[in-house]
Amino acid sequence: FGGGALAGLKVVVSAGPTYEDIDPVRFIGNRSSGRMGFAVAEAAAAAGAAVTLVAGPVSLPTPAGVARRVDVRSAAQMQAAVLEAARDAQIYVGAAAVGDYRPQQVAERKLKKQAGADLVLQLAENPDILATLAAQPAPPFLVGFAAETHEVAAYAQDKLRRKKLDMIAANEVGGGRGFEAGDNALTLYWPDGSLELARTSKAALARRLVEQVAARYRAVRG
Ligand code: PMT
Repeated sequence: FGGGALAGLKVVVSAGPTYEDIDPVRFIGNRSSGRMGFAVAEAAAAAGAAVTLVAGPVSLPTPAGVARRVDVRSAAQMQAAVLEAARDAQIYVGAAAVGDYRPQQVAERKLKKQAGADLVLQLAENPDILATLAAQPAPPFLVGFAAETHEVAAYAQDKLRRKKLDMIAANEVGGGRGFEAGDNALTLYWPDGSLELARTSKAALARRLVEQVAARYRAVRG
């Protein structure tokens, strides 16, 4: 008991989409189902970590072995939950598809259709959870995801550097790939290396990702 590549470590995983409310009945969301992040949480728990899973609005059961689950809706709520959980964590894996923008104002009443006129929504920028963590004095080991439709490698390596991450898992999305599906393919990048993980189930992929995270964590943090 207590063995495993992540034994003794606290790991926070974010998963799923965020919903940014427009009014009491409408929101801006995205296609993330949470499956990739939930698989990472399960694999990290199986590797011996004490896992906190911060989940956006998804309809998935809590994976076996996950110590704590916090359900959130918006990017702001996800950021608050992640920052709180990451205070004493050694590793953060950001698999959530966090909305980059939210409506500047949330209407208290359902917006009424104005026939014949276009509706303009003003959007405000959301905080970047990974960048906020990276700016802390002693950040956890940071693993980001990059979901791209084009130029996956270039954008992913740029996010690795810009967001000051220890590792990034890049996936191509769109046309049924990445989001929602039961399988996926990832390319991992870290500051001085990379590894392709071929298409397989999200469960199998998550186990391979966790092996690499554990190895890199041990290499740079002892
Ligand atoms: O949930 P599934 O249906 O299984 O689909 C899986 C997935 C495609 C959602 C997943 O594999 C994935 O790629 N997740 C990240 C999606 C994403 O938002 O990527 P991004 O390139 O926009 O963001 C880059 C990184 O910054 C991500 O780690 C994201 O969590 C983080 N981020 C983004 C915006 C923000 N405000 N704060 C953040 O921390």
